[in-house]
Amino acid sequence: MTLLIGIPLETATGERRVATVPEVVEKLIKLGFAVAVQSGAGAGANFGDDDYRAAGAEVVATAAELWARSDIVFKVRPPSSEEVALMREGGMLIGFVWPAQNPELMQQLAARHATVLAIDSLPRTLSRAQKMDALTSMAGISGYRAVIEAAHAFGRFLNGQVTAAGKVPPARVFIAGAGVAGLAAIGTAVSLGAIVRANDTRAEVADQVKSLGGEFVKVDCDEEGSGGGGYARVMSEGFQQAQRAMYAQQARDADIIITTALIPGKPAPKLITAEMVQSMKPGSVIVDMAAEQGGNCELTVPGEAVVRHGVTIVGYTDLASRLARQSSTLYGNNLLRVVEELCKTKDGTINVDFDDDAIRGLTVIKEGNVTWPPPPIKQPAVAPKPQAAAAAAAAAPKKGHGSSEPMSAKSLAIVFGIGALAFLLVGLFAPATFLSHFTVFVLACFVGYMVIWNVTPSLHTPLMSVTNAISSIIAIGALVQVAPPLGGSAVGDRPSGLILGLAVGALALTAVNMFGGFAVTRRMLAMFRK
Ligand code: NAI
Repeated sequence: MTLLIGIPLETATGERRVATVPEVVEKLIKLGFAVAVQSGAGAGANFGDDDYRAAGAEVVATAAELWARSDIVFKVRPPSSEEVALMREGGMLIGFVWPAQNPELMQQLAARHATVLAIDSLPRTLSRAQKMDALTSMAGISGYRAVIEAAHAFGRFLNGQVTAAGKVPPARVFIAGAGVAGLAAIGTAVSLGAIVRANDTRAEVADQVKSLGGEFVKVDCDEEGSGGGGYARVMSEGFQQAQRAMYAQQARDADIIITTALIPGKPAPKLITAEMVQSMKPGSVIVDMAAEQGGNCELTVPGEAVVRHGVTIVGYTDLASRLARQSSTLYGNNLLRVVEELCKTKDGTINVDFDDDAIRGLTVIKEGNVTWPPPPIKQPAVAPKPQAAAAAAAAAPKKGHGSSEPMSAKSLAIVFGIGALAFLLVGLFAPATFLSHFTVFVLACFVGYMVIWNVTPSLHTPLMSVTNAISSIIAIGALVQVAPPLGGSAVGDRPSGLILGLAVGALALTAVNMFGGFAVTRRMLAMFRK
């Protein structure tokens, strides 16, 4: 029997997002599932019932019918207790759940023998999990929207302009916290022409701020803020004091402040005091993206935009929902990737595989048993950041590849012994010219092996683009073999069929590497272009 995925209308006040969009419905059907959508579920995100019907979904009239019939329900916000009551016994739920903050909801879901995958519990540092990372996709959208809200409330251009009517200076934007949302805000504000400064307790983000066109402002106190997994930790009192002094100075200077600072499991750090707000120029704007967790600004009112001391303080907690069509599309794609992981066989069946770290982390309840929190992941699959990985690779060039154990001295001696013997035999019987080429070949293999094996696996793709240069040397060598000799074309000088074949083969393989390398480089560069 075909499993039915159900998409209810979100019931939280003001929520405009929907858990899947028509283009994703088509892909879910291709995976072997049937899809039902509650009538009007996509309206807030500008997707009509007819769009869903055209994509192959069935449209059902009521929430009660949808929840009762669905084997799997996709949600954006955690379900209300009324919704849990509608859920079918033993059904599956995928969406935001926040198990730490919602223990009662967890109990209600467990009582229905449900299997619950909380998208917020995804182990984000697993590189394989990035395609499912809805926290990142929503934070990126929120960061963008925060700048748009700020620009809307701000009475001036963000970019500098020289017009016949007068000169306009560019707006000065200060971003507190340069995580996913902060970086998106930096990129957006820079693209609108503002002068952007940013600060974070994690020193590692300084390069990312610069690469987006911002300036990283350091706190005058040496203390590292990384608390593991890419997240921050609570800083010492000394650091906080130095940070307050720096923020006070930035507040006097900035036209717009966007705060995004969060520490997992803790209330948002208070970074902007009432005095700092008072010191800002009239007409300035603060967008407090941490409003839901208590706010980074003392005067924030969560969910509202208020004016205090002539400064507009925006505390909206639904920034992603304010770009509902965009956020629903990205969220729908994140959930599609989760389903692809659950249904690797692409035949409409679900396997909640606890040997898969990503699925294990996501699953907070399995068949009525609470499985949250998950055990720590044994092997951090990939460093949290390319920069960190690069630094690690540079700092530890002697480290072995992946989890493989280094060879014991005995087996190393045996391998070298066999190698030396083989080399001796080749030296005794092969022609002298062959031996010199063979020596270069063996050395090249050895150097290549050592280079690749000492690079973190996550950097193999960029490495491939670098090997273009090596490929061009192979191409020249192969061309020398294929081309007719200079100054004559005596038949005897032509290469033999075997050499010609090998050279053509080398050219073909090199071409794959070179053009593949260019394609990869182009894609990587495109990631940094607007
Ligand atoms: P978040 O929303 O928890 O925090 C936002 C930012 O606020 C963080 O950059 C944090 O360092 C900063 N912050 C906290 N306290 C602060 C303070 N007192 N003053 C100034 N800044 C403060 O974090 P988010 O954006 O969800 O992720 C943080 C990082 O996690 C990302 O930048 C990324 O490096 C990493 N990450 C890695 C992933 C991966 O490797 N696949 C996936 C997702 C995130």
